Amino acid sequence: MNKILVCGGAGYIGSHVTLSLLRKGQTPVIVDNFANSDPSVIGRLNSLAGVQIECHEVELADEAAVSRTFQEVKPSAVIQLAGLKSVGQSVANPTDYYSVNLGITLNILSAMERYSCDRIVFSSSATVYGEPEYVPIDEAHCVSPINPYGRTKYFQEEIIRDWVAAGELSSAVILRYFNPVGADASGVIGEDPSGIPNNLMPILGDTAAGIRKEVEIFGGDYATRDGTCERDYIHVSDLADAHVAALACDPEDKFEVFNVGTGRGVTVREAIDAYSSALGRPLPERMGARREGDAASSVAANEKIVSRLNWRPLRSFEDACRDDVRWRSQKSKSNSM
Ligand code: UD1
Repeated sequence: MNKILVCGGAGYIGSHVTLSLLRKGQTPVIVDNFANSDPSVIGRLNSLAGVQIECHEVELADEAAVSRTFQEVKPSAVIQLAGLKSVGQSVANPTDYYSVNLGITLNILSAMERYSCDRIVFSSSATVYGEPEYVPIDEAHCVSPINPYGRTKYFQEEIIRDWVAAGELSSAVILRYFNPVGADASGVIGEDPSGIPNNLMPILGDTAAGIRKEVEIFGGDYATRDGTCERDYIHVSDLADAHVAALACDPEDKFEVFNVGTGRGVTVREAIDAYSSALGRPLPERMGARREGDAASSVAANEKIVSRLNWRPLRSFEDACRDDVRWRSQKSKSNSM
């Protein structure tokens, strides 16, 4: 049996990747330390898929533990999504970010070498591009991350590139995500951030739930069609499917980088309107000041992934809002039971 080790498989993106693999008849094995995820996701995935998913609670920053997991599971490929992901915390605590994020990937690569596993898909971010010099952003855009989190993503990409050059890997695919949003259409899994969210969609959801009084729009004087910032929001189920397509591909020179986005920008104003429509009532909002470090526009050029992989985005931003509303309503029902 070809097992796919999904490192960080209990998290927001990892749980959708696991589900996507299962729906395509593959055998994912989840590895997670549940630091930023709820262990109940495993039971929910089991019920959705109708199988018992193999799951290991492992501290991926612990080299010996990673090695033992590889010895036991004997995966044929790895999808590496584990790591710390708060931009703000990475600025306050860069050493943690470098040691944890780089350490996890180094431990995984060493174990892959030891146990002859030579295919990897790595979860990177469009944040590696830094301030865009042009939009849409293609993979040839210069890389210039503006915070430690973004630099850890870029350095992990480069470590993997060196591993390929050294002949240790036969296939390495880097996926640079734009802004993942939404939830599985079942409403059974979705984004469940611990702590106070910073990203727009969880903030829209918290405002809908009354946890926040209103949505503050970070600036209305940008050079965009309505003055608010524009982003490329990719439905998490489309993003998950991109990992499955990446696993099946034969990367040029064994190492290839792909943007994962829709190629279409949605402004903050449009996002609030779409979420309000999905809810069936308007969200309270207020115009605020610009947030430091925000680019006016970040949109993917996605021609490369669409032409090279058997993948294209199938779901709209409206789908993502509707799926997020469904997930949040089912979650609050099950919490109150
Ligand atoms: C953020 C991260 C980025 C990460 C990405 C995806 C920063 C500076 N960047 O990018 O590294 O890869 O998430 O997870 O944190 N907005 C509001 N009001 C709010 C919250 C957001 O108007 O209360 C606006 C922002 O100005 C932005 C858009 O909504 O234009 C999206 O914001 P966010 O979800 O934080 O994503 P990014 O800024 O693209």
